[in-house]
Amino acid sequence: MKIFADSADLDTIRPLAEAGLIDGVTTNPSLIARSGSDFLDTVGALAAMIDGPVSAEVAATEYDPMMREAARLAQIAPNVCIKLPLTLDGLRACRTLRGEGRETNVTLCFSVTQAVLAAKAGATYVSAFVGRLDDINIDGGALLKDIRDVFDTYPAFRTQVLAASLRSVNHVSAAALAGADAATMPPEIVTAMARHPLTDKGLAAFLADWERTGQTIR
Ligand code: G3P
Repeated sequence: MKIFADSADLDTIRPLAEAGLIDGVTTNPSLIARSGSDFLDTVGALAAMIDGPVSAEVAATEYDPMMREAARLAQIAPNVCIKLPLTLDGLRACRTLRGEGRETNVTLCFSVTQAVLAAKAGATYVSAFVGRLDDINIDGGALLKDIRDVFDTYPAFRTQVLAASLRSVNHVSAAALAGADAATMPPEIVTAMARHPLTDKGLAAFLADWERTGQTIR
């Protein structure tokens, strides 16, 4: 499963990229607003920092201006993945961009039928929003499993399932167990994935025992 950082904060993404922990980055207009940084500059910096896809979302809601914005975003770097809303115009733009050989991420997917349309439009990724469904007491993990089942039933669908709106390491586990191709999450969840209290406790015991041996490794 690919791991993407869901953030537009260069300072928190950089150490994850340097550690080789992430395979890409996803941004959205809310994350750009929160970062307070210039959108195009930030996408350029992220695209230079990461080998994998950097999702950058169009702001237009109609096909023609969407395509103009997509062309501008595509100029930034070859690894910019054009993020489009799951609307009729977004799906149309997705199909056109697919024809041009661009990677796309169709976002704001909350149902299997929406995912089917994204796949038929040739999306590279469909972002299924787990946390926002859980927020309204609908099982977001079940949606991932259902999309996985449908995509596996129809091999012509090549779209990758991207688990998005993940709020905890439990959501990441659910995404992996559901067979998501990729999961995007806030950087603090990437680091939280590595933590376990028994790891800390075990390491402290090993270090104390090692100290008692009086040895050094050289
Ligand atoms: O980038 C899309 C998604 O991951 C947003 O997450 O927490 O705003 O629902 P959230």
